[in-house]
Amino acid sequence: MFFMNLPVILVAFSAIHAAYGAFTPKRRATCAGGQTVNNEACCAWFPVLEDIVPNMFDTECGDDAHGALRLSFHDAVGFSPTHGGGGADGSIIVFQDTELAFPANAGLDDPINTEIPFIKAHNVTPGDFIQFAAAVSLTLCPGAPRVGFMMGRPMPLAPSPGPDGLVPEPFDNVDVILERMADAGGFSPTDVVALLASHSVAGADTVDPTIPGTPFDSTPSVFDTQIFIEVQLRGTQFPGSQPGQGEVMSGVMGELRLQSDHLFARDSATNCAWQSFAGNLPRTQNAFASAFNRMSIIGHNPADLIDCSDVIPAALPLPADAAPHLPAGQTMEDIEQACATAAFPTFAALPGPATSIPAIPQS
Ligand code: HEM
Repeated sequence: MFFMNLPVILVAFSAIHAAYGAFTPKRRATCAGGQTVNNEACCAWFPVLEDIVPNMFDTECGDDAHGALRLSFHDAVGFSPTHGGGGADGSIIVFQDTELAFPANAGLDDPINTEIPFIKAHNVTPGDFIQFAAAVSLTLCPGAPRVGFMMGRPMPLAPSPGPDGLVPEPFDNVDVILERMADAGGFSPTDVVALLASHSVAGADTVDPTIPGTPFDSTPSVFDTQIFIEVQLRGTQFPGSQPGQGEVMSGVMGELRLQSDHLFARDSATNCAWQSFAGNLPRTQNAFASAFNRMSIIGHNPADLIDCSDVIPAALPLPADAAPHLPAGQTMEDIEQACATAAFPTFAALPGPATSIPAIPQS
C-alpha cells in the first residue's frame, strides 16, 4: 500500500517543497577564514570586509562611513522605468564623468575616490561594492540595524546613466520627492521617511561649502532618532554666515537643516510618519532596513542575485545611556507640532546650557 502511493506522496512533497523555498536544504559552505555562509560565492566578501573596516572606514562611523551610505542612495535612485538609468549598478562610479556633473551628486567625488582603490584591489563590480560598503558602514554606527547584502550586480553598460534630475534635491518639495521615490523603487511615503533616518549619521559638505561636515543632528556618529526630534524644533539660526540652497534655519547651534527634512517633518503627507519614528528606535530600525534592502537592488531582479547577508557583521547597539532627548536648553514648547492625529512624544532636555554641535571631522 505504502509503495503504491509513493509517487503521489513524492509529487505532493515536491510541490510543497517548491512552494516553500525555506525548507530547501541550504548549500552551506565554509570559507577559507572558517566563516560559514549559505553560498560559497559569498566567501569572496570576507577579505573585502576585513580590508575596508580598518583601512577605508578607520573602524568608525565617521566621514567615510557617512559618504559610503550617501553614495549607495545616489547610485540606486538613478533609475526610472520611463526615463532610464540602471539603479544600483555602479554607474555613478563607472560613468562618473556624466553623473558627477549632476548638481545633486555634488561632493560624491570624495567617497568615489575613496572606494575606487578597494574596488580595484578586490576585483568586484562597483555596483556590488557600493551597496556592500554601505551595509558595512552601518555596522560601524551604533544603533543602526543590520541590513542585507545581495551580490551579482554586473558592470553597468552605456547608456546606463539616466538623465539628470533623478536624485532628489534638498530644495524639492515633498510631493516631488515622494513621486520620484515611488517611481524609482515603489517606495511609500513612510518608506521615504524611514530612509531619511540615514540623516542621523550625516552632515553636509556642499550645501554651505564654507562649513564642511556640518551635522544634521547632534549625534552624527550614532544611528538614533535625534534627527526626527531635532528637525521638529523651531528653526532659530543658520550654522554659517548665510544659508545655502535647500537650507533652512535649524533649531540647534552648529547643526544644518535641509529644507527637505524640514518639510517632511511638517507636510501632512509625512508628518505623522516622521513623528512616529521620534524616540522609537526599533520602529526606525525595522522600517529603515526594509526600505534600504529594497533600495540596494533597484534595477535588478533579485532572482539574478545571491544573498550574501551572512557576510555583514552584527549590528552595534546604542550605548545604554543614549536615550532620546531634547538638546540642552530646549523644552517641548520648542517642538512644532505638525501631525494632526497624535501628540509629539515628550522628551526631557539634556542638562546644562545650550551648546554648539561640533563639525564632523573630515577625512
Ligand atoms: C530623499 C531625499 C533626500 C535628500 C533631498 C537628501 C539630501 C541630502 C543632502 C543635500 C546632503 C548633504 C550633501 C552635502 O552637502 O555634502 C545629504 C547628505 C547625506 N545623505 Fe541624504 N538626502 C535624501 C535621502 C537620503 C537617503 C535615502 C540616504 C541613504 C539611505 C541618504 C544618506 C545621506 C547621508 C549618509 C548623508 C551624509 C553624507 C556625508 O556626511 O558625507 N540621504 N543628503
